[in-house]
Amino acid sequence: MNVLLTGGAGYIGSHTAVEMRAAGHDVVVVDNLSNSSEKVLDRLAEITGRPVTCYRADVADAAAMDRIFAEHKIDAVVHFAGLKAVGESVKKPLEYYKNNLDTTFTLLAAMKKAGVKKLIFSSSATVYGTPKKCPITEDMPTGHCSNPYGWTKYMIEQILMDYTRANPDFTAILLRYFNPVGAHKSGRIGEMPNGIPNNLMPYITQVAVGKLKELSVFGNDYPTPDGTGVRDYIHVVDLARGHVAALRYDKQGVGVFNLGTGVGYSVLDMVKAFSRVNGVPVPYRIAPRRPGDIAACYADPAKAAKELGWRAELTLDDMVRDSWNWQSKNPNGYEN
Ligand code: NAD
Ligand code: UD1
Repeated sequence: MNVLLTGGAGYIGSHTAVEMRAAGHDVVVVDNLSNSSEKVLDRLAEITGRPVTCYRADVADAAAMDRIFAEHKIDAVVHFAGLKAVGESVKKPLEYYKNNLDTTFTLLAAMKKAGVKKLIFSSSATVYGTPKKCPITEDMPTGHCSNPYGWTKYMIEQILMDYTRANPDFTAILLRYFNPVGAHKSGRIGEMPNGIPNNLMPYITQVAVGKLKELSVFGNDYPTPDGTGVRDYIHVVDLARGHVAALRYDKQGVGVFNLGTGVGYSVLDMVKAFSRVNGVPVPYRIAPRRPGDIAACYADPAKAAKELGWRAELTLDDMVRDSWNWQSKNPNGYEN
């Protein structure tokens, strides 16, 4: 298939471009590079052996999107483009609602004009809010998000459900990602957080490389085995392969899938695994809980296994090794 990746220069999109090509598909990228570097494209060419067509454009720019669909026969779209920093979304809610919703509206209109009928959307486990139990199944309630970013994911899911009801020949696949970490094993592409990272793994790698002094472990009094927060970390390459599997989904209507491993690890599990596998110490201290955090969140990935034939295969050791390989080879991200 020929697949358009909106936000394809970003962290998950770039890894998906590699896995799509490895599976025999081709990709076209559209990205405004607001949170990525054009150097990603050189590295994608290096990894996959040929250049990647990329349009530097805003997905909310209707004329640009129409041009892309006119110039390429696209079979399916993966919609990664969006703003994703939780804390920033609290400070700049309108920017988040505008960017994440406008890109979706413009994309749907352009797809309709071009007759493209399959969309895979980057949703998040954040739509489950505070889940009543773990593992989380797709039929559990969504909403009660704790921040504007989470609400944009919730709203876009709702928009896609309504749109699909009104356009029965359209397929929307909502992929609810758990916690992506790791990087391509080459160490040539990876996550490039802006400023001080909010997420655990990039914080750990930046402490390990000496850019940050120590990790603050946000709370050790949660009702979890060691008291620290438990999450379902998934290797970004496994996650990327989940998108390849979703291309095979051929039912009309909406398909909702958790993409996680089904296994929860605590903050201290992650710190210990990182130090053990990489032989690098990660100094930490116990700090107060972070507002908005939940004790535990991990997926039931059975539906994706059954209906998409996909399951995560890479291990915790792969995740911490590849995260460190990327960080240590690229201490300043793509600016080296
Ligand atoms: P990322 O920021 O690395 O990638 C997003 C890309 O979209 C960036 O390259 C950015 O430049 C581009 N972009 C943003 N707005 C755009 C616009 N208006 N027009 C064109 N390009 C635009 O983020 P990521 O981690 O790769 O996440 C990809 C998607 O997955 C996002 O929608 C994110 O919300 C979602 N998601 C991410 C995580 C995570 O932990 N990384 C978890 C759940 C869901
Ligand atoms: C966060 C977002 C979520 C988003 C996801 C992926 C919040 C409340 N949630 O999820 O909406 O979809 O990122 O971008 O921001 N931790 C520390 N010290 C740190 C950083 C994190 O102890 O410096 C702990 C956290 O308390 C948590 C775990 O590590 O228990 C994972 O945190 P993080 O990587 O930020 O992911 P989430 O909170 O799951």
